[in-house]
Amino acid sequence: MPMRFRKLLTLLCVPILLSSCIRIPSDQGTDTDGGGSEGKDPFVSYYENMTYHYQTKVDEEALLTGLDTAYLVLANKTSPVGESYTPEDLVRLDNAVVVPWHQTTGLTLEACAAAALYEMLDEMRAEEVTDIFVTSAYRSYIKQQQLYYQYLDNELSTISEDAYRCLGYTYIKVNYLDQGKTQLSRADAEKVVLSYSAYPGTSEHQTGLCVDFITEDMGGNLTEAFEDTAAFAWLSENAYKFGFILRYPKGKEDITGYTYEPWHYRFVGREAATDIHFSRLTLEQYLENGTSH
Ligand code: DAL
Ligand code: ZN
Repeated sequence: MPMRFRKLLTLLCVPILLSSCIRIPSDQGTDTDGGGSEGKDPFVSYYENMTYHYQTKVDEEALLTGLDTAYLVLANKTSPVGESYTPEDLVRLDNAVVVPWHQTTGLTLEACAAAALYEMLDEMRAEEVTDIFVTSAYRSYIKQQQLYYQYLDNELSTISEDAYRCLGYTYIKVNYLDQGKTQLSRADAEKVVLSYSAYPGTSEHQTGLCVDFITEDMGGNLTEAFEDTAAFAWLSENAYKFGFILRYPKGKEDITGYTYEPWHYRFVGREAATDIHFSRLTLEQYLENGTSH
């Protein structure tokens, strides 16, 4: 791992790690308590001393599968996966974790991500967080294309709340309302859609490594209301232990390219997820800084 990243991560992790009595990785390759790991990569010590508490019988081996760099594939606006990309090992998710309206056709996810997802949902249930379902998982290029153009049609037909959020009230007033226009130009509509939906070939959903969660309480709508659920509170604290990260955090829109999505979780494997959780980096920043241990 590059020194620059270690330093940054160490700085960011210190308060959190101190409070949970976990040994801190240091630039010099020695532990802060001075004991026992001479010659060992400090990051190995960091993980060995990270203790996770589960009520269910968690398969720790399965969660470490994420060490495989295949789970760090980046799919975003500047790093498209392309039209032909299909994950190798897709499995159909158990309908018990899927929203009713997708149970007939079913949802699929990459096999290891699915195994980690089940571990996580089992643990959530054991901790009495039961209102949580998957509403989107793997999406093919074609499916993403359908969604994208459906959203574009919506944005072309009316000036939505998303349009105000994305373009700003003043811009809409000057360029539309003051001129009696009630529909966005195609360019503006595309800009709005691209703030919340990926152009076909660039969606992380095409990797089969992410899910969108929803609760029964929210009806059928994916909104920021997910942030107020017990499920979100639990995920914020624990998702990393199962290899998942919040992929589009609040305040990181300029880096991820998308508005805040409290419901979208990406499987990257437990080590990367732990790094990302404690460093509060985005996947883009994490990959840019280097990930090799
Ligand atoms: N909503 C996310 C960005 C997607 O469409 O992949
Ligand atoms: Zn999503």
